[in-house]
Amino acid sequence: MGSAVCSWLTLVAASCVATHAAAADVGTPGAPEIAQAKSLWARSPHGKMLERILPPAVEPHELPEPRSDGARLTARYCVQCHHLPNPQMHTAAKWQSTVERMVWRMRGKGNLGELMKEMMAQIRAPTTQEVTTLTLYLQKHGQNEINPAHPALRSTAGQMYSLACSQCHALPDPQQHTAREWPVVVERMKGHMAWANVIVGTSELRTIPELNTAEIVRLLQRHARVDARTSRP
Ligand code: HEC
Ligand code: HEC
Repeated sequence: MGSAVCSWLTLVAASCVATHAAAADVGTPGAPEIAQAKSLWARSPHGKMLERILPPAVEPHELPEPRSDGARLTARYCVQCHHLPNPQMHTAAKWQSTVERMVWRMRGKGNLGELMKEMMAQIRAPTTQEVTTLTLYLQKHGQNEINPAHPALRSTAGQMYSLACSQCHALPDPQQHTAREWPVVVERMKGHMAWANVIVGTSELRTIPELNTAEIVRLLQRHARVDARTSRP
């Protein structure tokens, strides 16, 4: 999250957009597209809606294999309307349908096409070849879903895990992280949940105000991947 000065809160301030755009290195993948999206958000009446579609989580240089064609294309095309998506967010199956939906939008056919008319004129769409590269890249680095028969899901904590952690993506396989890594990931997710709630604003829409993530962290740690270097959980 490199753009600390230009958080979603301050983005609407024209000065922030201007300095951010000026500071963005045009040689960096995605930098001109990000700058353009931010200035569009600031000007569009739908800017707030677009900004909150995905929380700011990764910068282009933090993408897996940042120099690959897939990363380059993700950084170019997928920042035009919302924050850069993290390939690890979705499973391979989910990326297939998500990319199809996004390409459809980029080609001006989405149901928000009319709403975003003023933006759509500036949106670039990938070629068929590029769509394949993008999809394969996102799938290669995608999320692994937990086996629905996993014993962890039978406990009360497991039910809470399943409810809380499948709201935005597939329910993650605990083996994706070590016991040491999980608390950090869950803390970041709490941030995303708070962000989604805060930005929506009304208390009636707050789905899980007091989520007990300590229980979830313990559950994930019990079933976590063993650290290969230390052989410790
Ligand atoms: C033309 C604008 C536009 C572009 C460009 C765009 N998206 Fe989206 N994206 C949207 C809109 C609008 C939504 C919210 C509605 C929806 O989910 O379809 C969205 C939602 C999302 C979501 C959150 C919903 C979910 O299914 O998790 C992800 C992830 C996503 N886009 C990924 C991508 C990727 C990957 C690319 C590049 C291949 C991309 N987007 C390019 C408009 C765009
Ligand atoms: C409000 C939506 C939301 C909820 C709810 C949510 N996540 Fe996420 N999750 C995201 C987004 C956005 C990403 C991609 C950006 C990132 O990695 O921070 C992500 C990515 C992930 C990843 C892949 C990235 C990595 O570091 O391995 C894991 C694992 C994950 N989430 C676990 C969880 C767990 C566990 C919970 C429940 C405590 C949870 N998520 C709840 C939005 C959410």
